Amino acid sequence: MALDMNGQGESTTEEGALRPHSYDGIQEYDNPPPRWLMWLFYAAILHSVFYVPYYLWGYAKDIATPQTELAVDIAALDALKEGSRKANPPTEVTRGKLSQVVKKPDAIEAGKKQYATTCASCHGAAGEGLVGPNLTDNAWIHGGSPQEIHKTIDTGVLEKGMLAWGKILPPKTIDNLVAYVVSIQGTKPANAKAPQGDVYQGTY
Ligand code: HEC
Repeated sequence: MALDMNGQGESTTEEGALRPHSYDGIQEYDNPPPRWLMWLFYAAILHSVFYVPYYLWGYAKDIATPQTELAVDIAALDALKEGSRKANPPTEVTRGKLSQVVKKPDAIEAGKKQYATTCASCHGAAGEGLVGPNLTDNAWIHGGSPQEIHKTIDTGVLEKGMLAWGKILPPKTIDNLVAYVVSIQGTKPANAKAPQGDVYQGTY
């Protein structure tokens, strides 16, 4: 007895339930899944026809899709960053009073600590240069005035691997780093990397 695909008839493995076809002498029994399972299967297919456009393709404007959720998260993050910028307003350096900050011992000290954790890996423990250039000589690729040093640290040189630290560290910390970099000018550390760039003629 042959059974149809919808599970009409009884499930059986009796000889009589063999399906008529035969491949290389191999035959199969007809054991259709139970009817309730087939209905569940069809219902799931039908459900997906509505579910996919509605939730995944965003046809429902009021429903959060992964894309809209991401946009909301990014907007929230931007707002947070903006808030943090406001809470840490640019200090003297960015307002052009840099020459005062670079002479403050506490700024230099704070900058030194920060330098050891974030900068030494590329510029050497004493600023002698490693992957990044020597920061103790008077040659500068991006200019050696305190304002220029500040700009390099703040906005980075992304294509060379120098990050825009202004996006990562608060403005005051950047100021301290400038103070530290200025303080190590002319210290001639061991294993110093050869000078790169133009000699800075100005004073600090
Ligand atoms: C991943 C490595 C890396 C780290 C970490 C890094 N730098 Fe740099 N930095 C570089 C490279 C590479 C350059 C050279 C860019 C170029 O060739 O234009 C550079 C350039 C500079 C310059 C300009 C030098 C010049 O000659 O004009 C300054 C100043 C500087 N870095 C300071 C810092 C400070 C301060 C930190 C820590 C907050 C830091 N760097 C962290 C890789 C790094």
